[in-house]
Amino acid sequence: MSPGTGAALRLLAASVDAKAVAEIGTGCGVSGIHLLHGMRPDGVLTTVDPEPEHQQFARQAFRACGFASNRARFIPGRALEVLPRLADAGYDLVFCDGDRLEYLDYLAESLRLLRPGGLVVFEGIFANGRTVDSGPQPTEVLKLRELLRTVRESQELVPSLLPVGDGLLCAVKR
Ligand SMILES: C[S@@+](CC[C@H](N)C(=O)[O-])C[C@H]1O[C@@H](n2cnc3c(N)ncnc32)[C@H](O)[C@@H]1O
Repeated sequence: MSPGTGAALRLLAASVDAKAVAEIGTGCGVSGIHLLHGMRPDGVLTTVDPEPEHQQFARQAFRACGFASNRARFIPGRALEVLPRLADAGYDLVFCDGDRLEYLDYLAESLRLLRPGGLVVFEGIFANGRTVDSGPQPTEVLKLRELLRTVRESQELVPSLLPVGDGLLCAVKR
């Protein structure tokens, strides 16, 4: 994750005064650290990843950064199995950085999870330039284009594609 993307995540979390954030794709915790910095001091990050090892790395990284263990809730599993168990309108921000093929499904879940005025954020939208390359592209890229169209045409969302890092698609739920 680029420093610019990290700074944008902090800003976005702070801009909605985030108390509850859901993250899809814990990885090694880089994005989680940025989100936690931007959230309220009592905010809780709920982060989902099917790889227990990744979550273990992230847990250690959060601790090394001085975040109390109760600032993060680690849920092991695939997003589309875990997200349906999370509370309706219970989140200020949903950050999507899991399986690009599932981004459209994450959008549908995010609309349910977000409170009005909450933000959904997708990482890696440029796919290293392939999203705007007119040559033949894999399904992953076609799906990213479909996501962009869906977000742009949604009456429920106010979107902006931030050209930081590999492209950060943000949208406010009305
Ligand atoms: C690009 S990495 C995330 C990086 C992380 N956000 C960071 O900044 O450190 C993608 C992560 O998504 C996880 N992932 C893959 N498929 C997933 C799924 N279906 N649901 C949730 N997470 C998934 C992978 O295990 C991997 O840790």
